[in-house]
Amino acid sequence: MNPPNIHVLPSVDAIAMEAADRIVKAAKESIELFDRFSLFLSGGSTPKPLYELLASDDYADAITWPKVEVFMVDERCVPPDHNDSNYKMIAEALLTKVSLPRDNIYRMKGEIEPNEAAKAYGLMLKEKFAEYGPDFMLLGMGSDGHTASLFPHSEAVKETHHRCVAHYVENSTTGKSWRVTLTAPFINSARDILVLTAGANKSKALQEVLEGPEDPDRLPLQLIKPVHGRMTYLVDIAAAGMGDAD
Ligand code: 6PG
Repeated sequence: MNPPNIHVLPSVDAIAMEAADRIVKAAKESIELFDRFSLFLSGGSTPKPLYELLASDDYADAITWPKVEVFMVDERCVPPDHNDSNYKMIAEALLTKVSLPRDNIYRMKGEIEPNEAAKAYGLMLKEKFAEYGPDFMLLGMGSDGHTASLFPHSEAVKETHHRCVAHYVENSTTGKSWRVTLTAPFINSARDILVLTAGANKSKALQEVLEGPEDPDRLPLQLIKPVHGRMTYLVDIAAAGMGDAD
């Protein structure tokens, strides 16, 4: 794989603008070439301003939303109207604000038995992506080096076969909780992977992820290496260890 591109930006708002421009560009290219664009979205706090920006007047018409299909990177196992639900955050910030047909939204079902939800999602992905890989994956990173819901030392980190798995996580960002998550092999089949990282609490893990040594069981983001695609990090100056972002 090519080494990832790393861009340091002054603030979370600057990350949102850069990410929005990259998503618009990737969507245009993909729709022109293939008449479709599959966009996989993460939860967490860092991408929320990006989702709001994509829904704003300046951007909403920049993407041909009826040609876009939106998928989840991971989900907390709660109902879709629960405040911890990634789907709820993404829907409120973006999906309900743009002209995206409801049928183009593929939600992980946090409200059903987690292994069933993961199995159903994995089978759906197997069918949908039988001929071509996913177009665009938006990821984040936790201060422990996790990405998606691939948490350090968890079973999900070792998964090499399934596209989507469920597991019970002792130390997740929402405490002890069940999670449904895409696996590294599926994420790595994407054409574009964009990782958003902001905040001084991420700088140590980010440095370790990027500069090694390789220890993906402890730093799951190290598992993310696109097979044929491109990987880019957008990092604010605080996460880059270069001082406080505004
Ligand atoms: C989730 C996410 C997760 C997130 C990181 C970073 O469900 O929590 O998908 O992988 O991207 O935890 O989260 P922040 O942006 O909130 O730091």
